[in-house]
Amino acid sequence: MLSPEENRLLTETGPGTPAGEVLRRYWQPVALSIELEGRRPVKAVRVLGEDLVLFRTGSGALGLVERQCAHRGADLAYARLEDEGLRCLYHGWLYGPGGGCLEQPAEPAHSRFHHKVRLRSYPCWEQNGVLFAYLGGGEPPPRPGLDGLEAPSAYTFAFKGLWECNWLQGLEGGIDPSHVSFLHRFLGDDPRDPYGQQFRDTVEGGEVPLSTVVREDPRPQISVESTYYGFRVIALRRVLGGRLHVRLTNLVFPNAFVVPLSRRQAFVQWHVPVDDSHHYWYMILYDFQTPLDQDRLRAQREAAYPPPDYRPLRRRDNQWGWDPDEQATITYTGMGLDINVHDQWAAESAGPIYDRSREHLGAQDVAILAYRRLLKKAMAQEAHGAAWSLKKRIGPPALDFIAQTDDWRTEWPERMRAMRGASPWAREWDLNLDADPGGGI
Ligand code: FES
Ligand SMILES: [Fe+2]
Repeated sequence: MLSPEENRLLTETGPGTPAGEVLRRYWQPVALSIELEGRRPVKAVRVLGEDLVLFRTGSGALGLVERQCAHRGADLAYARLEDEGLRCLYHGWLYGPGGGCLEQPAEPAHSRFHHKVRLRSYPCWEQNGVLFAYLGGGEPPPRPGLDGLEAPSAYTFAFKGLWECNWLQGLEGGIDPSHVSFLHRFLGDDPRDPYGQQFRDTVEGGEVPLSTVVREDPRPQISVESTYYGFRVIALRRVLGGRLHVRLTNLVFPNAFVVPLSRRQAFVQWHVPVDDSHHYWYMILYDFQTPLDQDRLRAQREAAYPPPDYRPLRRRDNQWGWDPDEQATITYTGMGLDINVHDQWAAESAGPIYDRSREHLGAQDVAILAYRRLLKKAMAQEAHGAAWSLKKRIGPPALDFIAQTDDWRTEWPERMRAMRGASPWAREWDLNLDADPGGGI
């Protein structure tokens, strides 16, 4: 339970807010690469409460600048795109990708006034279908060495979706292994092919889907371990007559998590505030073994989250498609087979900004408490001028398996190394790489 003041401290991310300053110290996804394709690669984006324009110049440079022209405030989302940058429609001022004003064609020919004018601008880079920006001050941190970004792009698929609630509600769902036993449950046999078809293990000759396994033990033993990138979440369940099911997921500070999707796939998902009551999740799915059918995946996802806004078809104003008949017979939620919609409902139905002075956290919420401690610690370090950064490392490890014996601590690093060893692209990994030199949570 938080006081209303603490809740504001953790949820508000506009300019000058403590949580906003923490998020700004990391590279944040701001658009999908596909959003900058086409004849005019210019896109208005709102991130962390800031209105910005993202663009690619005719010569290929990426720019992210404030949306209002520095002359008299006209909207640069409508600007003319030129080889050198964006030209305001009102009086023709031209801005480069770094925000500098390059031309003021209505000023006297010898004027040097344009040298004094600059838009706020942020550095950008692009990897595996996602455009990232650094909205903090000073030098940007190193680019994160996540598997989803290190994988060759053919082995990845990127997508996004709008959730109409505060970013922290989305993130807290991602580091909550307990809900999987309930929210994503199918009442009969699991459907073979829903989106997000989950992990299946072979047990005594048959495949067992994760959603069947985890419903056998709704009381997982959950613990967290500090790592250099945030923390690892370990959920242990007794299933199938006493065997140990192990699920390892990760919080990648400050606003991402990495979870396994199948025996050879995982995804990284960021929850990026648009403003305090809306956010986008950005996901990069990656496969350790084979290239992904990106066109098929995109068509499937766009059917549920159509561009250009990626606002889901199932949402609060149509009760997320809730069907009481389906809830009685097919799914725990009654909201279809897409597990992403289940997670969306869980985050959005708590309200635009959940009032955590009304919550009651239990033993199952240990990772949520760990995250809040970490975020508060980062805010305090900001006050002392310390900079955190996600260094160039490998991983993080995301695994889901039924252990051979109860000695899962020995088994999981071996499984992780074996999975990476069989991958055409994954770099060698060592458990010691994960250690947190800073003392962590
Ligand atoms: S308002 Fe943009 S050039 Fe005048
Ligand atoms: Fe979920």
